[in-house]
Amino acid sequence: MNNEKKEKLVQKLYEKYPYPNRGKKNREELLKYGKWVSNIFGEKTDFWSGKKVLELGCGTGELANSLAIFGAKIKAIDFSENSIREAKKLSKKIGNQETVFLKKNILEIEFEEKFDVVIALGSLHHTINARKGFDIAYKHCKKNGLIIIGLYNKYSRFRHRVKRVILFLFAGNDFEKRISLGKKIFGGKNIYWCADKYGQVHESYHSVSEVLKWFKKNKIEFVASKPKFVSPIIDELKWLLRKENAFFVMIGRKI
Ligand SMILES: C[S@@+](CC[C@H](N)C(=O)[O-])C[C@H]1O[C@@H](n2cnc3c(N)ncnc32)[C@H](O)[C@@H]1O
Repeated sequence: MNNEKKEKLVQKLYEKYPYPNRGKKNREELLKYGKWVSNIFGEKTDFWSGKKVLELGCGTGELANSLAIFGAKIKAIDFSENSIREAKKLSKKIGNQETVFLKKNILEIEFEEKFDVVIALGSLHHTINARKGFDIAYKHCKKNGLIIIGLYNKYSRFRHRVKRVILFLFAGNDFEKRISLGKKIFGGKNIYWCADKYGQVHESYHSVSEVLKWFKKNKIEFVASKPKFVSPIIDELKWLLRKENAFFVMIGRKI
């Protein structure tokens, strides 16, 4: 499948199944997300007050709305119109009038303004070129600003990749078939979760060493990661045994 087709299918999937779309979301639940991100780099939530933030691939807007509660001024983009609609609904529900949600492709944005923080959790690996997405994040970040990216880990995602091969063998790139088969064989919480895990026809995998190279090349100083690591490859291989570390977050400062 060529990149154009892949991108269209990814978009179609998230149009039908906006993610994470976690059902009833209240202020308390939202606050947890912002706290979780702040903890990674040892900050309290008051860090966000007045910060200009760009979120790439905001999905249904949980993080953007959480950071808005903590005082961030956010521009959040996603190419799924239905995700943006859900994100706006959530804003309305919690009385957040500050955040601007826009339907846009991460790989095509060109904002004139620069941001104190650019954040992309779980989105770049679904674009057809995660590295380009990273460069776009970099370009939109102010000097001394933070870049926060969360990606699938190529080592610890191994078990999931085996499942994906099985789904591809029996259901090809038909995402509805993949979702129903995945749910049957491997189980799953809700339909949006199953769509993201089993229906996804395109995802790329990355490693701590790779992202450190991206940082080095762009003169980005490493700030923090989740999980923490001492020696990237050895730690990541250990993550293989721990289901929960399939996703890793890296934070750097543009110098
Ligand atoms: C797994 S969801 C993550 C959502 C949210 N960031 C979170 O952490 O819950 C991936 C999101 O990235 C968006 N996305 C993927 N590729 C994109 C692209 N090229 N441009 C804009 N959004 C994209 C999808 O529409 C989807 O909402």
